[in-house]
Amino acid sequence: MAHDKKLSDISWDDFQSLSLIEKGSYFQGTPPHTLIAQQFSRFRLEELCTLATRIKRINKRREGANHLKTLLCDKRAMLYFAQPSTRTYLSHNAACQILGLDTMDVRDSKTSSEVKGETAEDTIRTFSSYADMIIMRHPVGGFAERVAWMLAHTNREIPVLNAGSGADQHPTQALLDVYTLERSFEQIGGMDGKHIAFVGDLARGRTVRSLAWMLTLYKDMTLYFVAPEPLQIGQDILDLLDAAGTKYVVTQDFASVMPLADAIYMTRIQDEWDEEGQSSTTGSSEFCIDATHMHILKDTTAILHPLPRREELSTDIDNDQRAMYWRQMRNGMWIRAALILTTFGRQDEVHQYYDDYKPGN
Ligand code: CP
Repeated sequence: MAHDKKLSDISWDDFQSLSLIEKGSYFQGTPPHTLIAQQFSRFRLEELCTLATRIKRINKRREGANHLKTLLCDKRAMLYFAQPSTRTYLSHNAACQILGLDTMDVRDSKTSSEVKGETAEDTIRTFSSYADMIIMRHPVGGFAERVAWMLAHTNREIPVLNAGSGADQHPTQALLDVYTLERSFEQIGGMDGKHIAFVGDLARGRTVRSLAWMLTLYKDMTLYFVAPEPLQIGQDILDLLDAAGTKYVVTQDFASVMPLADAIYMTRIQDEWDEEGQSSTTGSSEFCIDATHMHILKDTTAILHPLPRREELSTDIDNDQRAMYWRQMRNGMWIRAALILTTFGRQDEVHQYYDDYKPGN
């Protein structure tokens, strides 16, 4: 992937006409942005996973934690969350704290001068006057890309990190999901060749849309999309899988997929996006998992969920060794710390410290 393409050199209309893969090459330069899953390579995913684990290990000791806090203590991050969030907001905030960044936030547009008629664009430009990076969640798909493009046409272009946009992308969630899968499969041959089942609202679940594409970067994967017809995965994602040569099965039969899956990725109904009552089609228990299903799964099947959950993921299985979702959530803090560190190009200092002091597991 070429790294020399600049957002400042392309019109917004031309940029929008690019494929997702083509867009990705515009986010790798200076400053690097994190906006879509399709900008990542396997090498970059593995680099981030290694760095996340090293940050986690270094942070276990007080002197290590103190060292990490010096790395970005000259930086400030703006957390702009125009949609509700618990985990993504808190884990980015915690990741910033681990690395010493100060944070500021707007979590509700009603508390910003947008209520006085200021445009979202001017609001963002204001953030860039005070902060060195913007971490943002927004209900409008593609708005984070627009922000990055807009800042590229100012004299204060700072990195933009997409913490969830519309129903289309949640790239940092996909990073923590990949990290959790990598760790889950460490003792059973790694990622390649695994069978991953996605279950629930796949049409509007942005985490699934981002993760499904990232999994195309691994060899011989088989993806199962298990959902009622109105909530099935979009054809646009299937087209991307076809282009990548990744095998997939689209089905409503969760029972037949359960024994095959190396990982099951449960999702809740995203009824906040309902336009035609799609959610009312999914009242049955066919797309749920609970203690009665656990004997059907492999002993090593990893159960993931981006959370928050509803009835599709029973609390009965929280203590099963295959339930990875709490660990998955905590992994988000480490992989986001790794991402923020690489955004500012300071990862070598962590590797140097790690090699010098060799902190244990
Ligand atoms: N997984 C996720 O995005 O959770 P939040 O909405 O709580 O941030």
